[in-house]
Amino acid sequence: MKTLNVSLFSVAFSMVLGLWLLPGVAQAMGEVDPQLFPYNPSLLRYQPSQATFTPPQTCAGCHPRQYEEWTASMHALAWQDPVYQGELAKALDEVGPEVAKQCIGCHTPAGLVTGEVSGAGVSGLSDMALAGVSCDVCHSVSGHSGWETPYRQPENASLILSPGRDTADGPVRTKYGPYADQDHCGAGFHECVEQPLHKQAELCANCHQVHHYQTHTPLESTYREWKDGPYQVNGITCQDCHMVDIATFLRSADTFQKPQRGEYRHYFNGANFLVYFLVEQAALKAGDAKLAANAREKYEMAVARLQTAADLELTPIYRDEQLAELRVRVKNRRAGHNLPTSLTNIRQIWLEMTVKDAAGKVVMTTGTVDEQGKLPPYVRKFNSEGMGENFHFALDPWEVISFARHDTIPPRGYRDVYYGVNPGHHQGPFTAEVTLRYRQAEQKVAHALLAAVPEDIDLAEIYGLTAMPDLPVVDMVSITQTITADR
Ligand code: HEC
Ligand code: HEC
Ligand code: HEC
Ligand code: HEC
Ligand code: HEC
Repeated sequence: MKTLNVSLFSVAFSMVLGLWLLPGVAQAMGEVDPQLFPYNPSLLRYQPSQATFTPPQTCAGCHPRQYEEWTASMHALAWQDPVYQGELAKALDEVGPEVAKQCIGCHTPAGLVTGEVSGAGVSGLSDMALAGVSCDVCHSVSGHSGWETPYRQPENASLILSPGRDTADGPVRTKYGPYADQDHCGAGFHECVEQPLHKQAELCANCHQVHHYQTHTPLESTYREWKDGPYQVNGITCQDCHMVDIATFLRSADTFQKPQRGEYRHYFNGANFLVYFLVEQAALKAGDAKLAANAREKYEMAVARLQTAADLELTPIYRDEQLAELRVRVKNRRAGHNLPTSLTNIRQIWLEMTVKDAAGKVVMTTGTVDEQGKLPPYVRKFNSEGMGENFHFALDPWEVISFARHDTIPPRGYRDVYYGVNPGHHQGPFTAEVTLRYRQAEQKVAHALLAAVPEDIDLAEIYGLTAMPDLPVVDMVSITQTITADR
């Protein structure tokens, strides 16, 4: 009895101490303790056993629906995505393997902890490593170490991966999921462990909260944007919008009603229509009609999500009874985080507007992409601008250490933009057409990344890309309104 008391006491005591003396606390903000995080700057942890990772093709045998949904998702493509591979190759070139480890930790976590992947490229890799954010990455998550990270939050892949455990009767695969274990769960192939994290945004947060590998500057803050907003307050998680079909997403966003158990899907669909488009092209070229149809479905879903995310409102402002300004209000209606989110210094959302007079002559126009795919100067963009040292503009995540501005739109919030108009000799009434447009990146940036892909990814051979095509643009929402010249 006495020994029990003592050991309980020492456990409690060390817990209290632990809160104050976490090894990380003594260090400067941003630094991580290599003892706690052996894969740093990735904060992954791994509990190996004889039961190692299982590739998705094996899970598909018993979970065909989830496999079909996950296939051609951005998670399935997280490693092979040519845009990512281009940037990774650049990172290796400009910084070296220490930064690459951080990237690999999120884009193929199993590949990092097993030691299989240490650089860019795809040749010679196992199905498991190629599968990126695969079934057995998420369903081996036994917990996270967010309380031990510099900001005491899940970030930079602070996941604990435990694909199995060794028992007296041999190794057992452990799969963590949202529900309590039932009889025969896993059909003898794996045991089922209930993991509350799978119903929480904190599962996703580990990878959707990206900080600079040295300075800890927040580079992608999707989780924190969500956490500070109305969806978190109302219990709507990432899963409730991204692991459901479009109709269910609209219901979650508009009514804060949580989806039913049977409504969850493994689409992980966001906005990246460009990569789905590339995958469809590759599948068609390879003669895989089924994969092409799947990628097309994901493409349409991403476009549909973008087209329901925002709203526009146009208000004329008169001064001395004369039209003086047009106010455009851009509302983030249904994104659970800022619009846009994540790579906000790369993604582009901007306003295009044309005002015509009664005769149809153009009074003013702004935001039209030119033949080279370039936006005109002074266009109203809702994004951020990253900076390196000495206030110079920077794009690459290893260079960005601060932001000159953050003009993204908070969830259920808006931004107003004012345009001065001078009707001059033009006769009213005027017609204004305003469109909110989205693309993944500036033409120049996409070009540079695709030019940097490692040699074992032949863009012409795989995707049929011989020259850089014009980056497609999605019109998120558009309004046309008549405005009188005076009041
Ligand atoms: C903490 C996890 C994490 C780390 C670390 C990380 N990424 Fe990512 N990366 C993401 C997520 C999540 C996205 C998706 C964001 C989106 O699409 O909105 C992403 C998207 C990208 C994209 C855009 C791909 C596209 O098709 O548009 C590129 C490029 C990229 N990452 C490169 C890198 C490189 C290079 C590194 C290492 C320097 C890195 N990432 C480190 C999580 C991470
Ligand atoms: C990014 C993380 C992630 C990936 C990748 C992932 N899952 Fe899941 N999975 C989840 C989450 C979160 C839930 C819980 C959703 C819910 O509340 O039902 C879930 C639920 C499940 C369930 C139980 C509920 C159901 O839908 O019947 C099964 C089975 C499952 N996943 C299998 C798979 C398989 C097979 C794959 C690969 C083809 C996979 N998962 C890939 C996160 C993931
Ligand atoms: C031999 C068949 C079989 C294979 C292979 C298999 N599972 Fe399962 N799994 C089942 C059965 C049966 C259930 C219980 C019914 C259900 O949810 O589909 C289950 C349930 C699950 C659940 C739900 C657990 C919960 O929360 O209740 C998850 C998650 C899961 N499996 C993940 C995986 C992953 C990941 C793989 C591949 C690494 C995999 N399974 C491979 C048969 C299998
Ligand atoms: C192990 C890391 C990891 C986890 C855990 C994870 N993601 Fe991701 N996710 C990524 C990466 C990496 C990408 C981007 C791949 C790329 O662009 O090449 C991504 C992409 C996405 C996208 C597509 C973004 C776009 O631009 O279209 C969505 C949506 C998404 N994740 C949602 C989720 C949700 C919801 C969860 C939690 C259930 C989750 N993710 C958990 C790493 C992760
Ligand atoms: C209320 C619904 C809703 C919730 C909750 C939500 N999202 Fe989204 N998300 C959207 C919509 C709509 C878009 C498309 C518009 C955009 O790009 O912001 C999107 C886009 C994304 C993208 C792609 C951004 C880009 O431009 O490449 C990622 C990544 C993402 N979400 C991750 C998450 C994660 C992680 C969470 C939880 C922390 C989350 N989302 C919560 C609705 C939601």
